[in-house]
Amino acid sequence: MRIIFLGPPGAGKGTQAARIVAKHGIPQLSTGDMLRAAVAAETPIGVKAKAVMDAGGLVSDEIVIGIVADRIDEPDAKKGFILDGFPRTLAQAEALDAMLASKHLELDTVLELKVDQTKLVDRIVKRAEEARAAGQPVRKDDDPEVFKTRLEAYNRDTAVVSPYYAARGQVIEIDGMQTVDEVTAAIEKALAGH
Ligand code: AP5
Repeated sequence: MRIIFLGPPGAGKGTQAARIVAKHGIPQLSTGDMLRAAVAAETPIGVKAKAVMDAGGLVSDEIVIGIVADRIDEPDAKKGFILDGFPRTLAQAEALDAMLASKHLELDTVLELKVDQTKLVDRIVKRAEEARAAGQPVRKDDDPEVFKTRLEAYNRDTAVVSPYYAARGQVIEIDGMQTVDEVTAAIEKALAGH
């Protein structure tokens, strides 16, 4: 099973991808998580990515395509994967096509979480508040002003990715405004009927 999750920041991609991992036993390839790990470890990639991520911008295609290409080659990804947060530009989508074609692999489906963008900042503020109350680290980009920039980047650079896959009939839209459990049920139904 090779799946892509699309949707704006805060749409629920990470939440739902983690549930699919638990149920179907395929790894979640989250470029956001990989980049945050690189930032925390202060690797050369992390050092380059940190300022861009903190400001809500997109890390360069070159860096992100490189980390995904390496990750897809790891043994646990051989049986399938869920891409969460990638591709985020047309260049990334084209690079993914090339990666898969070189391995004679195909995508199974692209799940797009459709949400009301005006409601997303509330989810992000809530996440930050919950982390603060629990004494956990708060994502720097979960600041409401930075979130605006993340949403702008999505609408400018990432919204074009869905039509790219829709032209091949690969996109299944999921209503992401339902409860988390309802969204999971809709995803499982979509996967079962695929
Ligand atoms: P990344 O980590 O990918 O973050 P994001 O996509 O911007 O957003 P989130 O992780 O906040 O959203 P999500 O859709 O996963 O929602 P979640 O499940 O967490 O990227 C971070 C940064 O890394 C980027 O800005 C960029 O700088 C860089 N980057 C990453 N990939 C890149 C790429 N390919 N190219 C270039 N740069 C890249 O849910 C959010 C909150 O809502 C949670 O608190 C959750 O509990 C809650 N929630 C979820 N579902 C529901 C629901 N149905 N109802 C109510 N609350 C819900």
